[in-house]
Amino acid sequence: MDQYVITGGVPLVGETEISGMKNAALPILAASIMTDETVTLENLPDVDDVRVLIEALRSIGADIKYIDRHTVSVCGAGIGSCEIQYEYIKKIRASYYLLGALLGKYKNAAVPLPGGCNIGSRPIDLHLKGLNAIGGNVKILYGTIIGKSERLHGAHIFMDTVSVGATINIMMAASRAEGRTIIENAAKEPHVVDVANFLNSMGANIKGAGTDVIRIKGVKDFHGTSYMIVPDMIEAGTFMCAAAATRGDIMIKGVIPKHLEAITAKLREIGCEIEEFDDSIRVVAARRLSRTHIKTNPYPGFPTDMQPQIGVVLTLAQGTSVVTESIFENRFKYVDELTRMGASIKVEGNSAIIDGVDCLMGARVSSPDLRAGAALVVAALAAEGTSVIEDIKFIERGYEDFEQKLEALGADISRVSAEGKSGRLKVRTS
Ligand code: EPZ
Repeated sequence: MDQYVITGGVPLVGETEISGMKNAALPILAASIMTDETVTLENLPDVDDVRVLIEALRSIGADIKYIDRHTVSVCGAGIGSCEIQYEYIKKIRASYYLLGALLGKYKNAAVPLPGGCNIGSRPIDLHLKGLNAIGGNVKILYGTIIGKSERLHGAHIFMDTVSVGATINIMMAASRAEGRTIIENAAKEPHVVDVANFLNSMGANIKGAGTDVIRIKGVKDFHGTSYMIVPDMIEAGTFMCAAAATRGDIMIKGVIPKHLEAITAKLREIGCEIEEFDDSIRVVAARRLSRTHIKTNPYPGFPTDMQPQIGVVLTLAQGTSVVTESIFENRFKYVDELTRMGASIKVEGNSAIIDGVDCLMGARVSSPDLRAGAALVVAALAAEGTSVIEDIKFIERGYEDFEQKLEALGADISRVSAEGKSGRLKVRTS
């Protein structure tokens, strides 16, 4: 399994360009098969999750061609099956977006139940409740979610919990139902807005995305479109935290500063100097940062996907910080790894109490999941000495050219493949 070898203690300085948002690209790719006309998607991130979902779409008959590394053309006219194989859902949970897309277009879908993952149980009861409310007739049979419906109709749905995935899945299916659907307590994340804008560019009639009430008037058919995916706010936030943790100075280009407001506010609060431009943001951490309290919340609150990364920054801050994770029940698995690097963190329930230390020390650590893995890379970049980060496949699910972008900022990082039991490292050019 490939690893990163990082020698830290060097401030990251320079500029980097952010890729398209993985968590917008996945539902938009799924929704792109809802028309039989050609859809062109630009600014797709070249990451494993996107590649897996493209294979899943091809497996049911979609014709997908890469125009360049970040642009694909999709045509759903040739789809011959509405049944997604387990191998795809096992690799990425977000294959469940095909439920809303196939149900909306064909009134028929069979998608294996997604398992839990390292950050929590990840139920999908809200997806099923909403899809059944619009007549999806969705049942779980032998580990597969099966929806077969004569007719989808409008409904007034109140989401018990704010759920990004359920909001998007219901929005996709309801956009092709007969009549009006209202989704109350809807998720407001930028990627929910991006999916709504994409669906509208195919002829949907969706209003209110980005607020907690989304109003959808179903339409009979969709037409082709060209669409550019929004920049990845979590990738941008990760680089913001890398600047903070290494006392660096990074200009992060190709972002929407408004999407980063919660992260910007917190980093300013602990002592970073942050300058916002039209489509970029500069983060400078000239001196030791100070403690704070963080509580993750649905957008526009502090994003749960940034919780491990800000946790790393706070391990080096002056004083005692508290990070409370209110979205997922098991998102502190990175804490044990950080402790091995000299951090002083105690997890109590859904909070981590962090006593800032003067420095972290390099160590061999393993990535428990996507965002925790990225956070451990940030920790290794800040630490004195050399670290080996194992299981980087998790990181590559959601970060395009991660080591190249960090290297361009002055990081001493290389990608190696571990060999043999001794874990002997053979350096391989990346
Ligand atoms: C999306 O997951 C993202 N994944 C996650 O990012 C992100 O952490 C999460 O939204 C929150 O922002 C993708 O977009 C592919 P939720 P999702 O439904 O949609 C509960 C990453 O690192 N819930 O908003 O699965 C759930 O347990 C990933 O890129 C139900 O109870 O998250 C959680 O407590 C990790 N029933 C809360 O809602 C349901 O039917 C929010 O989950 C669905 C969710």
